[in-house]
Amino acid sequence: MHDQDIAMIPGLADFPRNQWYVIGYSSELGRSPVRRDCLGDPIVLFRTEAGKAVALFDRCPHRGMPLSKGKLLGDSIQCGYHGIEFGPDGKCTKIPSGGGLPAKMAVKPYPLIERAGWIWIWMGIGAQADVTLIPNHEELGMEGTGWYPDPGIHVELKANYLLPLENLADATHITYLHHGLIDTGNVAAVPYRMVVDDRRVRVFRDFVNEPMPPILAQVFHLRGERITRTLELTTFVPNLVMIRNSFIEVDVPDPQRRVNTLIVAVTPGNARYTHEFSAFGNNYPQQYAGRFDDLKKILLEDVEAIEEIQTMFDRLGIDRAPEVSVKSDEPAIRVRRLISQMIHREREGAAAA
Ligand code: FES
Ligand SMILES: [Fe+2]
Repeated sequence: MHDQDIAMIPGLADFPRNQWYVIGYSSELGRSPVRRDCLGDPIVLFRTEAGKAVALFDRCPHRGMPLSKGKLLGDSIQCGYHGIEFGPDGKCTKIPSGGGLPAKMAVKPYPLIERAGWIWIWMGIGAQADVTLIPNHEELGMEGTGWYPDPGIHVELKANYLLPLENLADATHITYLHHGLIDTGNVAAVPYRMVVDDRRVRVFRDFVNEPMPPILAQVFHLRGERITRTLELTTFVPNLVMIRNSFIEVDVPDPQRRVNTLIVAVTPGNARYTHEFSAFGNNYPQQYAGRFDDLKKILLEDVEAIEEIQTMFDRLGIDRAPEVSVKSDEPAIRVRRLISQMIHREREGAAAA
């Protein structure tokens, strides 16, 4: 199979399965079942009595009722239709109407890992779940000394995941789509440097000694009239974007460095439905109470644009909706290539097995 067989067109892009995806926040899971879609799979999430997070395929194998409509009995989930129960490993623990427990009466369990307030789910072959594939949380500013993890809000979009993934890593729309909210009007025109490895596409822009926007001073607790900053947009292929602003105060006697990181995990619910799970990772304790309201406002501007693009794509179809790229789309093109290679390797491995 060649790369061109793998569709990496925003609007209908394929996604790899042998990867960790963020499925929600630790704070969302408790003793009531939560339903969430990931990569086209219906999934039910809950915690055992001891607090361990569990994810199971959300369809009772008996007659197909969503298990998330049932209830928890101890560590098992009881289907709401005929009361069949399944343990945290997906195996049937009880059939109230009697008879044996057939091995086929089971649902798929998914490996989960909780890190810094997020829950990561492995959507691929269970035996291949490799924890080292989760992005380094110290690099994200979500773990380690001197960092203050701060999750986050869940936003849903009716669009293919590649549209929001590229949107988040694209600095050149900020000046236009979010005009007045987060930049001083000069992001699009500032030259960037790009660094690519096998899992990351990193893009840096430097703004040296620029006038301090009052909103930045308020949100990031910055002092003085002028500021130097580096904006880093890093895509961790295939599903996470880190937007990091490193500010250095200029015209105060004891200049400080403030690092503010917005991390957004992009999780396909299905081919045309996507979750965004956000979090902040800062090198100072956050005190600005309006941060999530502000973030939501910005993300919803993106959602509106992205859903318009998806609707247009679906209406015209791939032949009548080509894209014409410009120089600053180079990082997005590299991201597409890396994801495409990832899917390619995964399918080759599956074919060989
Ligand atoms: S459908 Fe679940 S017990 Fe019958
Ligand atoms: Fe945006």
